Amino acid sequence: MSVLLLRFTPPDAFIPFAEAATQEPPLRLQTFARLRDFIYQLSGLFVADTHRYFLKVRLLRRMQLLGLRSFEEYLDYITGATPQTVQEHQELLNSIVVVETHFFRTPEHFAALGRQILPELASKRGRLRLWSAGCATGEEAYSMAMVVHRDFHPVFPHIPVEILGTDLSSEAIARAQRGRYRAPSLHGMPEVYKGYLREVWGEYEVVPEIRSVVRFQLLNLVDEDSVRAVGPVDVLFCRNVLLYLAPEVRRRVVEALCEQLLPGGYLFVGAAETLSHMTDRLQLVHFPRALAYWKPE
Ligand SMILES: C[S@@+](CC[C@H](N)C(=O)[O-])C[C@H]1O[C@@H](n2cnc3c(N)ncnc32)[C@H](O)[C@@H]1O
Repeated sequence: MSVLLLRFTPPDAFIPFAEAATQEPPLRLQTFARLRDFIYQLSGLFVADTHRYFLKVRLLRRMQLLGLRSFEEYLDYITGATPQTVQEHQELLNSIVVVETHFFRTPEHFAALGRQILPELASKRGRLRLWSAGCATGEEAYSMAMVVHRDFHPVFPHIPVEILGTDLSSEAIARAQRGRYRAPSLHGMPEVYKGYLREVWGEYEVVPEIRSVVRFQLLNLVDEDSVRAVGPVDVLFCRNVLLYLAPEVRRRVVEALCEQLLPGGYLFVGAAETLSHMTDRLQLVHFPRALAYWKPE
């Protein structure tokens, strides 16, 4: 038993606690507050007081890479006006966002999309545009494409469908474009769609016919001009994104998304999220074991 314990104990655990504490620069309350404001201005993301340690751990890695010794130095670095500073803004966001996702997360949403929403919209439009806003590493957008390929196009082959995946994290977008995933991304994925992934060296790669219909792009939802540039969409998934934004930013983002949604279009938020008290431009609609918001025509 003790052998096992020794084997799995990481080397850092042998550093006495007091010594380890002196090796790590402190993240003072005032510096934390300034960093938090800076992140809020950049992205609308809200870092709660309770996440001070989380922020510290994530930023320590950046500081080590940049050779900076204190959080105050890091703050000066990111608020400076050099081209490297702007690059660091993206690295900072990449290091703090939560990009957790998987294929067919909340499968009821995809069932509603394939069985009801797409056929209904096809009877009204000559082409369809779907947007996964806050797509993280891309599984959500690819899941949409699988539904289109397997359930929609065999019945409506003449309706072209365009799918866009966007995210704040450039790292997540690069991974989405690569289209290769580890086994946990497939957790809970309906068997019938697994044929759209092929195993390559222990990973799962999205097949070309699915990859070719999805386009990924870096986009900050807080930037209203960028949201407008996406153009009108029929179906919008913005799931498990709004909960990370400060409440007043959330409202503005929802307004901007509503603008892009075509009349008769649908918006999905995460299973634990709601738009109540945020907009009166959308109506809540019920699907089997799923809710969505509909923009009246
Ligand atoms: C938990 S993931 C959700 C992924 C996927 N939508 C899902 O439900 O599985 C949240 C994503 O929101 C993105 N995000 C957070 N704030 C954003 C912003 N201001 N603009 C664009 N994306 C943002 C993060 O980068 C992250 O990839």
